[in-house]
Amino acid sequence: MQPTIATIASLSAHEGHTVTLRGWLYNLRASGKLLFPIFRDGTGTIQGIVPKAAVSEEVFETLKNLTLESSLTVTGKVRADSRAPSGFELDVENVEVLQRVPEETPFPITLKEHGVDFLMEHRHLWLRTPRQSAILRVRATIMRAAAEFFDTSGFIRTDPPILTPNACEGTSELFEMDYFDDDKAYLTQSGQLYIEATALALGKVYSFGPTFRAEKSKTRRHLTEFWMIEPEVAFLELDGLLDLAENFITHIVTTVLTHHRADLKVIGRDIAKLEAVLGITPSTSSVILSEAKDPCISSEAPQTPARTQADNPIPDGAEGASATRSAFPRLSYDEAHAMLEDAFAKGLIETRHKEGDDFGSPDETYISSQFDRPVMIHRYPSAIKAFYMQPDPLDPTRALCVDVLAPEGYGEIIGGSQRVDSYDLLKSRIEAHNLPLAAFQWYLDLRKYGSVPHSGFGMGIERAVAWICGLDHVRETIPFARTLNRIYP
Ligand code: 4AD
Ligand code: MG
Repeated sequence: MQPTIATIASLSAHEGHTVTLRGWLYNLRASGKLLFPIFRDGTGTIQGIVPKAAVSEEVFETLKNLTLESSLTVTGKVRADSRAPSGFELDVENVEVLQRVPEETPFPITLKEHGVDFLMEHRHLWLRTPRQSAILRVRATIMRAAAEFFDTSGFIRTDPPILTPNACEGTSELFEMDYFDDDKAYLTQSGQLYIEATALALGKVYSFGPTFRAEKSKTRRHLTEFWMIEPEVAFLELDGLLDLAENFITHIVTTVLTHHRADLKVIGRDIAKLEAVLGITPSTSSVILSEAKDPCISSEAPQTPARTQADNPIPDGAEGASATRSAFPRLSYDEAHAMLEDAFAKGLIETRHKEGDDFGSPDETYISSQFDRPVMIHRYPSAIKAFYMQPDPLDPTRALCVDVLAPEGYGEIIGGSQRVDSYDLLKSRIEAHNLPLAAFQWYLDLRKYGSVPHSGFGMGIERAVAWICGLDHVRETIPFARTLNRIYP
């Protein structure tokens, strides 16, 4: 009988049995008559044990001389070992090599340290290393959880076009291309304007796709191509939008913590920092996230349950009953500015924030480092925000908008607002921003035919992955990053 074909992630179901794994040789250590190959198969890595006496001469010699990243199938018996990172080791019985990497052209990514440029130049191969693979698995879950949050709360996915005739987020960051004879087209910076149209058709909608910005900035946070998920809701005002963003982030972090503890460990993430976002203290975390009942914890012990959208239904329609609950701190722009003034006076930050200016990276870093949960900053000066943002009726110099800053200095992960719903005001805003009125005629129509208050936000997936995985730079958060100076591979 042929041994079962298994994956490394599923080995707990095969303990004590002989299985065949299909994958690659990740590493090899030899110690006299003992070989310790490490295999990977995309789902994880496992160490094999190969005593010379236990296998045929041919198997031993094949493995001993095998080059890294050669593809193979390996058959062996699964043995539990609490010291092994995966919890198991493989007593190797047989190996078949599919393609042997030639000695003259060894796999370029070795376990020694490489420079970032070298790694990015070999990104197609760097992806195979355990940490990068773990990041991509977490990314996939963040994308799934994000879409699932809206799919299970009555939102309809309506994806906007990628080729557009006009700008959404300011004209300086547009990728322009010829569109047949005399026309120009631009790669979309955000689907927002289009999903405002679908929201007025369907009520609660979202879009999820790649967006593009010809950002000349070379920072840890900027890509020229990134994925954005954007909800847009008719009859939703700013307070309800803040609730929506909070529930959304909570769902994503909960899902990642439920499914990716092992991956987060490989990545080197401090998991307690993520638990703090959910209000979980380390002593209660395992109980909540595994849903196991620990007999040692008394039922009186205060346990903050991991909140899900089921516990906090999304406000459906007009503004939600938001004021009563606020687990993520909410600061107005003015309060955030006052916080920076105070920090400057105490010598905690070097540069003084100028009233009326946007927050720079160091400002955002300082503000977000004051909290262990994402901070929601609302009501920025209209003058520094997008043309489509609704002015605050209590102070029209302020916009009904929000930026969500991730903790630990990760900066903005979400930007959103209530939208201008008056035809006349929107028209004058378009003109004041020197935008071509003709290209926005359809957008103005939305204010002509049954205009209602409506709001939405966008979250950049890569910024969220960088924060949740605790990465220094967004280039590791996407399979093939596009930045100012890289478009290869
Ligand atoms: O704040 P932004 O520019 O907002 C919008 O585009 C709105 N139209 C969204 C909406 O209301 N529907 O961008 C939203 C988010 C940012 O918070 C950030 O997470 C991400 O998109 N983002 C980038 N991510 C990576 N690289 C860049 N160059 C990014 N620019 C924005
Ligand atoms: Mg923004």
